[in-house]
Amino acid sequence: MQKQLIQWYQQNKRDFPWRKDQDPYHIWISEIMLQQTTTETVIPYYERFLENFSTIEELASASLEEVYKMWEGLGYYRRAKHLHESAQIIVEKYQGKFPYEYNDILSLKGIGEYTAGAISSIAYGKQVPAVDGNVLRIISRYYLLKENIAETKVQKKIYQIVQELILNQDASAFNQGMMDLGATICKPVHPLCSRCPIQKECLAFKNKQTDVLPINIKKIKKQEISYITGIITYQDKYLLIQNPPGGLLENFYGFVQYDVESPYSFVSSFQEKYHQDLIIQAHIKDIKHVFSHRTWFMHVYHFVLEHEIEGMYTLEEIEALPLSTAHLKVLKAYLKFM
Ligand code: ADE
Repeated sequence: MQKQLIQWYQQNKRDFPWRKDQDPYHIWISEIMLQQTTTETVIPYYERFLENFSTIEELASASLEEVYKMWEGLGYYRRAKHLHESAQIIVEKYQGKFPYEYNDILSLKGIGEYTAGAISSIAYGKQVPAVDGNVLRIISRYYLLKENIAETKVQKKIYQIVQELILNQDASAFNQGMMDLGATICKPVHPLCSRCPIQKECLAFKNKQTDVLPINIKKIKKQEISYITGIITYQDKYLLIQNPPGGLLENFYGFVQYDVESPYSFVSSFQEKYHQDLIIQAHIKDIKHVFSHRTWFMHVYHFVLEHEIEGMYTLEEIEALPLSTAHLKVLKAYLKFM
């Protein structure tokens, strides 16, 4: 497939200004711009940037403000800051010449494995993979890999596959061929298989799985929320609220809690809603409660009301009400504290 892909690339490559030469400085700038921005948007920015900073030395000696000005509208401005810092490092450490060694390239600010691979292969012809989402998708389809490409171990496996594929090949053409194939033919949705140069051996095509693969299921990060949780009492009664239907723990009872950072803010939030003053009595405990998809950090405080309001219950009454496990822990901690 390498040979077919490379030949297809050489005959069909898209015409971009960063494909006019192999100057590592030019390739570097283009790859940084292309990290989070489409080729179409990048073209005029790329040209203007290099007109203004025609060498690494010029970029290094410009002010950060001037660099930002050239970046205006591209977004992800940290990229511009990193470019500027890296240019200064290149001047100091590599006499203004863009580094040649892969690890030196990788150590520059704003350059990860993908970008280091792209620059090394395109500018220097090194046989290094440049694995981005396009490559993960193409390889997953071509080899009918039904594993989840969102997982690091699957990404590593695909990296190794690509490493073997480019051995003794034109890695620049291979990597850029993958970029073009992913962008124009082997698209995420409705790939144009009839025009694909590697369709014949593509196992996803053969098995009618091109609309199914790749599997890309991202692990959701557990949402963490920090609350001030209030045990609000008046004499022997506790204030409880019932969760509204439809939400988390619907109809369960619990203590009042606000996503705020101090018990003083809790008092203000409570004031706004209930028009009642609270006295902050004591910090009871910090309790962590893990749900399947969410983690609560509850900073439990005891507050005292000046008189009874609606929704207050004695301990006896509370025993008959459904309380969430999280707030049962809160109540137990309070009773233990008292
Ligand atoms: N996306 C990232 N790098 C690219 C390149 N060199 N050409 C086209 N698209 C790209």
